[in-house]
Amino acid sequence: MNTFGSAYRVCIFGSSHGPFVGASAQGCPRGETISEKAIQAELDRRSPGKSPVSTPRMERDKVDIISGLLDGRTTDAPIVGVVKNRDFDSSAYDAFVRVPRPGHADFTAACKYGGHSDHRGGGQFSGRMTVGLVFSGAVARQVLERRKVRLLAQTVQIGDVKLEKDVPFSAAEKLVRANAVGCADRTVAEKMRDEIVRAHEDKDSVGGVVRCTVTGVPCGVGEPFFESVESKMSSMMFSIPGVKGVEFGSGFRSAAMRGSESNDPFAVKGGRIVTKTNNAGGILGGIATGMPIEFRVAFKPTSSIARPQMSVDLRSKKSVELIVKGRHDPCIVPRAVPVVENSAACVVLDLMLQGGFV
Ligand SMILES: Cc1cc2nc3c(=O)[nH]c(=O)nc-3n(C[C@H](O)[C@H](O)[C@H](O)COP(=O)(O)O)c2cc1C
Repeated sequence: MNTFGSAYRVCIFGSSHGPFVGASAQGCPRGETISEKAIQAELDRRSPGKSPVSTPRMERDKVDIISGLLDGRTTDAPIVGVVKNRDFDSSAYDAFVRVPRPGHADFTAACKYGGHSDHRGGGQFSGRMTVGLVFSGAVARQVLERRKVRLLAQTVQIGDVKLEKDVPFSAAEKLVRANAVGCADRTVAEKMRDEIVRAHEDKDSVGGVVRCTVTGVPCGVGEPFFESVESKMSSMMFSIPGVKGVEFGSGFRSAAMRGSESNDPFAVKGGRIVTKTNNAGGILGGIATGMPIEFRVAFKPTSSIARPQMSVDLRSKKSVELIVKGRHDPCIVPRAVPVVENSAACVVLDLMLQGGFV
């Protein structure tokens, strides 16, 4: 339910309009230096209110680490971070219990919990719950970076606008943080921004694709079948609200390839066994090959749109027109970039600890 991982166990808690959101991360090696500033920087990347394509809702996501660190180093206690919720207005949400918003979890929550759930701000289903994922991932990535594992997520598609080229990792890392949409090309980033602004002006929303690359994961990380790198990574990615697709390497494009095209030939580079191409996305048999782990995550358009939509009054069973008021991101993809990147770090650390690589 709210817990992910076996060796690095992340438990997210809180709710969108409750007093706070946060996470507890267990299993981190002891004595690791962890920078609170670096954690805060990742949370700042996720928080809205900084750009014209983001909701003006101000969420000052200041993290308080209440357990697990002493003098900047990990102890044996769970690392617990809490972020207070501020600047929220729950007044509109009571209506959605009776008349569910299309694209949201109001209907399924009503079926499953029969009214016994915190519906304010989407409660447990809200994108705000990803604060806990970013917190736990921001801890994990510091442990990983010390072991030469690097993670980079970037926006490669917004609506129809795509980044077709492959920007080298280090250059992309800087560029992604330099624009509001998280794209590694300035010109494409502007087009993406325009696409989001257009959707917003149309009282609509737009989706997109986040690509994530993880380098430095040693060959051998991951287990066959149910604990495979793909199984665990996609399980984490599909837990992020709004995610509708995950593919590794050539993914769905592999279906149209011949084996001769899809197979990545082995070669030796600097004494290391590498593959000349990476259609496998750095994974064979569920186990990391040592090549970059590559995957793409598709996000649907933001569910909350300012246009009238049709719904049903769950008590009277009559059709009703619904207008979702309030402040919402016309596109969640830019804010999802640090979520994908940091939650991927949780998965990689979990697998590396499990396999004895850390
Ligand atoms: C960082 C982030 C922020 C989000 N913000 C919004 C938002 O402002 N409005 C909205 O309708 N959905 C938002 N979502 C997506 C919804 O939470 C999600 O679509 C909804 O809970 C239904 O879940 P599902 O799409 O996974 O089925 C956000 C998701 C993420 C990852």
